Amino acid sequence: MNILIMGGPGAGKGTMSAKIVEEFKINHISTGDIFRSEIGKQTELGLMAKSYMDKGYLVPDEVTNAMVKSYLEKLDNTKGFLLDGYPRTLDQAKAFSEMSKGTSLEIEKVLVLEIDFKELAGRVTGRRLCKGCGEIYHVVSHPSKEEGKCDKCGSELYQRKDDTEESLKVRLEEYENSTKPVLDFYEEKGMVARINAAQPIDQVWNDTKKALEDK
Ligand code: AP5
Ligand code: MG
Repeated sequence: MNILIMGGPGAGKGTMSAKIVEEFKINHISTGDIFRSEIGKQTELGLMAKSYMDKGYLVPDEVTNAMVKSYLEKLDNTKGFLLDGYPRTLDQAKAFSEMSKGTSLEIEKVLVLEIDFKELAGRVTGRRLCKGCGEIYHVVSHPSKEEGKCDKCGSELYQRKDDTEESLKVRLEEYENSTKPVLDFYEEKGMVARINAAQPIDQVWNDTKKALEDK
């Protein structure tokens, strides 16, 4: 199954994505993670993306579409994939729809994590990530056993550069103005399942699993 997961910054896309890919054994494609990996490798794409990401702005559509296309061309898609954070503009949705039409890459289900914007500042400023395996923690709702150290691989935890109140403000505006229209695009196709993301992680996961098992 090919799934798209959507939701505002810090809504829990990455947290649910990790559970979905483990349960359904599908590929996880997070455009945010791919950009961060390019930044880490200091590639031309990474340096360009960084100038937008650090401030909370979206990376231009042409760049993002081309990156996803080349990524998908190399992918073994026998079991399907989970798109996390792409498409997130109407132009990206149209470009992806055009590219995937009639192929095994068409999106079949869209999950939307719904949560009030005022809840998100606490989520992003308290987030910690593992430098080694990418595991997602939160200082209050999902702390690691030993402070600053990953439970799974023992590597150091870090904070994302864009996890500041200032950048969050821009990311929320981008979500409202550019990403909400994508929801309408998929809503019209009748593929959308809305999940209450303001619940504890286990409850959000129960609802997510149910939505995916519901054909
Ligand atoms: P991206 O990496 O996608 O960031 P985002 O959309 O802002 O979302 P986050 O990753 O911040 O949040 P999340 O929903 O994954 O939440 P998480 O599970 O970590 O994109 C970053 C940037 O890259 C963009 O701003 C843009 O510049 C660029 N970019 C990416 N894709 C692009 C595209 N298609 N086009 C253009 N530019 C693009 O959870 C957050 C925290 O909350 C964690 O600490 C977690 O432990 C905690 N938490 C999760 N769920 C719960 C819960 N139920 N209860 C309590 N705590 C919870
Ligand atoms: Mg994420």
